[in-house]
Amino acid sequence: MELNRRTVIAGAAAAGLAATTLGTGSAEAAPGGRKPVKELFGKLADGTKVHRWSLENGGTRLKVLSWGGVVQSLELPDRHGHYANVSLGFDNIDDYVAKTPYFGALIGRYGNRIGKGRFTLDGTAYQLSVNDGVNSLHGGTKGFDKRVWDVEPFTKGSDVGLHLYYVSIDGEMGYPGTLRTKVTYTLTRDGDWRIDYEATTDKATVVNLTSHVYWNLAGEGSGSIENHELAIAASRYTPTDSGLIPTGELAKVSGTPFDFRRAKAIGRDIRAAHPQQVTAKGYDHNWVLDKGITARPEHVATLRDPSSGRTLSIASDQPGLQFYSGNFLDGTLVGTGGRVYRQGDALCLETQHFPDSPNQPSFPSTVLRPGRTYRTSTVHSFGS
Ligand code: BGC
Repeated sequence: MELNRRTVIAGAAAAGLAATTLGTGSAEAAPGGRKPVKELFGKLADGTKVHRWSLENGGTRLKVLSWGGVVQSLELPDRHGHYANVSLGFDNIDDYVAKTPYFGALIGRYGNRIGKGRFTLDGTAYQLSVNDGVNSLHGGTKGFDKRVWDVEPFTKGSDVGLHLYYVSIDGEMGYPGTLRTKVTYTLTRDGDWRIDYEATTDKATVVNLTSHVYWNLAGEGSGSIENHELAIAASRYTPTDSGLIPTGELAKVSGTPFDFRRAKAIGRDIRAAHPQQVTAKGYDHNWVLDKGITARPEHVATLRDPSSGRTLSIASDQPGLQFYSGNFLDGTLVGTGGRVYRQGDALCLETQHFPDSPNQPSFPSTVLRPGRTYRTSTVHSFGS
């Protein structure tokens, strides 16, 4: 049986054990968790203050920046109750501004790539900011990851969390319509981290928001994730061209290194020399989730680190999941704990619509129209 946080805590209570006996801290004992705490993290070159919010509930500890909605730290206990920060990041704002490959950030307006940074909507052609060769990646040169968000803390019943707001003006990064975005980070009493995204527009536009946490369940800076076991509930994926733009094909994973329908170590097939892996330098693809678009988040992937026992289970209502195996980490960035990040030292699991959907009529639509509200939710559940 896979133990989740609730099972462990309930078991401890039944056995008359203090939660601290399990080394999971005292936050889960307090109903409603702790009120989010705000502190100054740093200043931008123009003097704008960047704050860091600390949240704790159900044994999960989360630190979030007003810069990019960045998850600067996410601490989880291992099977012995020892905490580690399982999310790559930096300990200072300057590195986030100058060097980050989207560590922990909110991504918008469009997660992943739009080919040539161009699309046509209702007969009008739009040219987006291009920042990845000829393509537009993660919203362009100054996406949502590089904006200061308004942050409002809340406690609601046994939940604690943050509302994050950002208004992207008409034409920003080339996108039509003023997009009003609200993202809610919630830590539940079970220690789940839930993300609820909402957006409205005043002109027809495209939108695809996601979160770019780099996971290493053994702890950031501890080495490769190749021993992590991953399962993705997807029978197909979207192969790409040399610029990592989907060709439009939905290819079967069966008989390929892309088959994660049963959990397997990430390192098992990562050097299989499949042409798609050679192009991407590992895994950097969108999996077509078997469940499709759903009204509520449903289970899509599980990640497990056998060494620490930590597990991550992801539920989403979206049709796709980008699994990126940290291929472009190249040993030039020094992370939060003072260690260098090398290729494959973390992985991202980004719940999303398919890359380049605005140019791929056969993919589910990412168009948002005035009067409609874009909504999507992702739930991260942890265990050990
Ligand atoms: C993309 C990668 C990209 C990375 C940026 C991922 O979501 O799929 O191709 O290099 O983000 O760090």
